[in-house]
Amino acid sequence: MQRENQRSQTPDTIGIERCVEVTADGSATLFVPAMNEHYHSVKGALTEAQHIFINMGFQHSPVASPRILEIGFGTGLNAFLTLMAAEQSMRKTYYCGIELHPLPWETIQQLQYSTNPSLHSIHSAGWEEEVQITPHFALQKIQADFASNSFSFNPLIYPPFDVVYFDAFAPEKQPEMWDTQLFERLYVSMNKGAILTTYCAKGIVRRTLQSVGFVVERLSGPPGGKREILRASKP
Ligand SMILES: C[S@@+](CC[C@H](N)C(=O)[O-])C[C@H]1O[C@@H](n2cnc3c(N)ncnc32)[C@H](O)[C@@H]1O
Repeated sequence: MQRENQRSQTPDTIGIERCVEVTADGSATLFVPAMNEHYHSVKGALTEAQHIFINMGFQHSPVASPRILEIGFGTGLNAFLTLMAAEQSMRKTYYCGIELHPLPWETIQQLQYSTNPSLHSIHSAGWEEEVQITPHFALQKIQADFASNSFSFNPLIYPPFDVVYFDAFAPEKQPEMWDTQLFERLYVSMNKGAILTTYCAKGIVRRTLQSVGFVVERLSGPPGGKREILRASKP
């Protein structure tokens, strides 16, 4: 992916350097020089998040009070957009975000996503605990390595999910996050009829999703962005 305007650099608490960059729709993202990888599409971070996760995921789900799981919580942009959509539609939403390397609030502020106080509430919420952020949006951030063999969702603690936002770094950069076993883990953690959306429409990812039992659709990508994205449904 090509880099847009570089604005500033911020190392996080464990020393990973990230640069704030402006994408084609004017919204910002983070670039990780060590991986040569962005957190969002350089063709439009906000446009991508809204299309793939909100429009094709949250809005598409018929579940009145959806349970959402995000793999790769990152900047919290998907969580914030989901909160806005949940409040607008008055759908009680539970949102579980898995993240290995939480970002400091100072980095989030530099992205200038919104001045809405809910964005700060999302980031100041404690890890592991469930926090009611707004009347229709409850958040549980979990700091964990989703690729670890020891990771699992205890069904007594985590009832099945209705929507999964799969937003890991690209398969070329982090192949372990796109492994068949991880998609099997997601499949068993989802309700019948639940959906998973991802920006990556590569044939290998589509076939892996199909091999674990999902029915996979190729959908149009975000305006000005990728040609296709994937949505997988659990039959
Ligand atoms: C493409 S970025 C996610 C973008 C994010 N959804 C957002 O809107 O900012 C991928 C995220 O996955 C996280 N990640 C990488 N390896 C992980 C792992 N093994 N387990 C959980 N999260 C991981 C990264 O730290 C990063 O935040």
